[in-house]
Amino acid sequence: MMENTILNGTQGRPLRTRVVQVVTSNLGAFQEQSTLENWELPTDSHDLEPLRDAARHLKTTDIPIGFPTETVYGLGADATRSAAVKGIYKTKGRPSDNPLIIHICDLTMLRSLLKPATSDNGHSKITEDPIPDIYKPLIKKYWPGPLTILLPNPQPSKLAPEVTAGLPTFGARMPELPLALSLIKLAGVPLAAPSANASTKPSPTTAEHVHHDLDGKIELILDGGPCDVGVESSVVDGLCDPPVLLRPGGLSIDKIRECPGWENVVKGYKDQSEIGSSAPRAPGMKYKHYSPKASVTLFEATKTNPDMTELPLEIRQAVLSMNPVSGSKNDIPKIGIVSTRNWRNWAGFDHQESKTHGAESHEDVTRVIESDFKEPLERTSCQLQYGEVWVGQKLSDKSTSDEMETSHKGLVARIIAIALGSDTKDIAHGLFSALRELDKRNVDAIYVEGIEDQGDIAAAVMNRLRKAASIIKA
Ligand code: TXA
Ligand code: MG
Repeated sequence: MMENTILNGTQGRPLRTRVVQVVTSNLGAFQEQSTLENWELPTDSHDLEPLRDAARHLKTTDIPIGFPTETVYGLGADATRSAAVKGIYKTKGRPSDNPLIIHICDLTMLRSLLKPATSDNGHSKITEDPIPDIYKPLIKKYWPGPLTILLPNPQPSKLAPEVTAGLPTFGARMPELPLALSLIKLAGVPLAAPSANASTKPSPTTAEHVHHDLDGKIELILDGGPCDVGVESSVVDGLCDPPVLLRPGGLSIDKIRECPGWENVVKGYKDQSEIGSSAPRAPGMKYKHYSPKASVTLFEATKTNPDMTELPLEIRQAVLSMNPVSGSKNDIPKIGIVSTRNWRNWAGFDHQESKTHGAESHEDVTRVIESDFKEPLERTSCQLQYGEVWVGQKLSDKSTSDEMETSHKGLVARIIAIALGSDTKDIAHGLFSALRELDKRNVDAIYVEGIEDQGDIAAAVMNRLRKAASIIKA
């Protein structure tokens, strides 16, 4: 064994973290059933080189690496080696009772994990398919994709005991991104991978997010661009009757229900408002999660839409309670707004650039500093607008904007508004990015417009938001 030469970067000095751009156009393609059984690497693809390096790293060190999947970026390590798996928990600061998802590249790899370690010497006579029948229609329809299934962990298992956190099952997922599939294939081992954020923070959907959280703690981040889905996989347990959805995610409960045997799937997680004394069965669902630094106030979508008349009032009160100590620019409270389907830009404060100098007294005035700022929310219709709004009255009609700032010390706020768009997919795609962007801009409070959590992946969006929020308004 190479255990003695294996590095351990989580102790001692910080590591140098490399972000390696991967060209994703020629990393393999999914073609029906045969690829499900056996993921084939493209022949002669120079673009595989960074993945070969990464695979070597996974095999020879205990330091996990950041890599993209179609849902969120993962923090991956060899799931068969205890020391490597322990590296994930250490790097993330993740509680050890929260099991990790095992990422496989094809069903051949999955079948091998479902057989006891001792029976797989290459001459095994077992011909029965070890994949439980209940999962077959789901796998056929939705793998590769944002779906994690719970499977019985055989004894003795090839998986390191730490990945399952003592549970008799393990969660397995075949990611859809060719980059991830080819990385696993090249490593030749399943990869245990939680989301690559620091524990409690919003999940990362770009390599930059991973770098922000884990710089100095890992050596390598593969950059494959922003994640398509933007929320994590759905986790299901088909080993019980009726089957259970343990975590809502990138595959909706309606889609799961379409599969034979899954018509009666029940919701096995509880959102904030439903939490009682019973512990959730997916251990990760009980922890504080997805939280930016600033407190988040979530407005649930009710039958009527989130109330726009209430929001400016809320913000005014928040600004008053923040009570800046001096008139200097840095002390002006910053408010983040994340809007989806109905809130108007600028949280209902009409922005009147031309009126900055001549507005009526008792009027809120806003000034756009910068708008249509799209990074890092590219690939969708999300927009980030950044500007200032004065909440409160002006002293006189003639005061200039600078005078207003200094003469209204306690009543000035800066607003950073992010509009995610109205399509659920765009909202899911941009959600974590938006929360992180507001964190980066050091806002003091965040207000989010919720959406109805029926049917599609809106359930996953609202589940994450309810966990991130410290105040939920019905
Ligand atoms: O999309 C995803 O699933 C991402 C990407 C990287 O693949 N991964 C991810 O992993 O979200 P993580 O570790 O952040 O979330 C895993 C969830 C947790 O809620 C955990 O408790 C649950 O899956 N889980 C894993 N194994 C389980 C098991 N054997 N029984 C019950 N829940 C399990
Ligand atoms: Mg996570």
